[in-house]
Amino acid sequence: MATKIIIGAQWGDEGKGKIVDHLSKDADFVVRYQGGANAGHTIKFDGKEIVLHLIPSGIFNGSAKCIIGNGVVIDPNALVDEIDEVEAFGSDLKDRFYVSGSAHVILPYHKILDQVREKSRGKDAIGTTGRGIGPAYVSKVARVGIRMADLTNGAALEKMVRSNVTEINKALTHVHKEPEIDVDEILNGLNPVIERLKPYICNTTNMLHQAIASGKNIILEGAQGSLLDIDHGTYPYVTSSSPTAGGACVGSGIPPTSITNAIGITKAYSTRVGNGPYPTELFDGTGEKLRKNGAEFGATTGRPRRCGWLDLVALKYAVNLNGLDQLALTKLDVLDDFDEIQVCTHYEINGKKTDVYPVETGALDHVKPIYRTFGGWSSSCRDAKSYDQLPNEVKTYISFIEEYTGSRCSIISTGPGRTETLIR
Ligand code: IMP
Repeated sequence: MATKIIIGAQWGDEGKGKIVDHLSKDADFVVRYQGGANAGHTIKFDGKEIVLHLIPSGIFNGSAKCIIGNGVVIDPNALVDEIDEVEAFGSDLKDRFYVSGSAHVILPYHKILDQVREKSRGKDAIGTTGRGIGPAYVSKVARVGIRMADLTNGAALEKMVRSNVTEINKALTHVHKEPEIDVDEILNGLNPVIERLKPYICNTTNMLHQAIASGKNIILEGAQGSLLDIDHGTYPYVTSSSPTAGGACVGSGIPPTSITNAIGITKAYSTRVGNGPYPTELFDGTGEKLRKNGAEFGATTGRPRRCGWLDLVALKYAVNLNGLDQLALTKLDVLDDFDEIQVCTHYEINGKKTDVYPVETGALDHVKPIYRTFGGWSSSCRDAKSYDQLPNEVKTYISFIEEYTGSRCSIISTGPGRTETLIR
């Protein structure tokens, strides 16, 4: 029996979908615990590719039951579209897919607010995905949110939506000078999706407590990454949930004492989408080459990702934040044709060298990264069928990451396919 948390150890897009898909074959349950359709978890198998935004990445490998936990914010239309897509891929969701009645709902006004607030921030915009994530969590914390179970309670639902829209229309018209939202349009739009989603809504917390009591294997699938965490990330350039390990317990109802381990997913280099500090970002041809080799374009928004070298100061911080006892190192093949590979070991801040990740707002704005250089391997990692078959230069690079972070790279991903995964 094991309850594993799979966490992005960088700014998201580390390849969590592929790793969760791989580990799911031995799981009984796979649970999403935070975020929403801002995530884009890409899975490739049997020559097919699908990007999941809400449904856990365990849906295609094995028979694990897949749960959207209470900590997720759900756009009902996006979920219905995704159910259709997954079913078209040949996966039957009946008796395999469950949605927490306590998960909060994203309604059209959350998306409008997201976009309007971004616009009003001008050059200080967060660079959100525009999926309504922040405003939905605001409704939740302000205790006016609508939860999935409320969707099945017609009269009460209508009252809540009308009350919220009245409030939001005041902000939209008076503060933002935007047109009012039509509440009837929202209510009418909800009816067909409610019928589709009803069968999946249940008490997933109890389901997970029973699973733990009967010794089942559970995977908690994080979305986004540790450095986008609302508390521990590069605030305010963060998402509005807690991707870090603590968030997995809150967002699923699984107690901390039931967690057996936490696996951090990190690329062999780094990327970031949206705005905010990024010490190892490259603005030159090397950054461009990483983007091209790694096809670094957002799975949800299609935006080009910012690219740079691996930042070990930030990675060690993520290891400490989450108690990562293992790392999965992904997209190693992207570095195959580089003559030299650099890795950031320290920051220089105001003339002082440090290996401590600073948490104060703005502290990362003027960081000078200090690098250590490794030789490239001028061959294809994808040819290796086991860890031992990897070029020696790759092993040297991996050993250094392990020594620095104190966490073992137990999974190495050498390509996008399910089979391009080396387990040590
Ligand atoms: P939001 O989550 O849409 O509010 O966006 C907040 C920040 O998180 C922005 O910088 C987004 O680009 C970033 N973000 C949100 N979801 C993801 C993700 O799945 N991968 C990478 N970045 C993300």
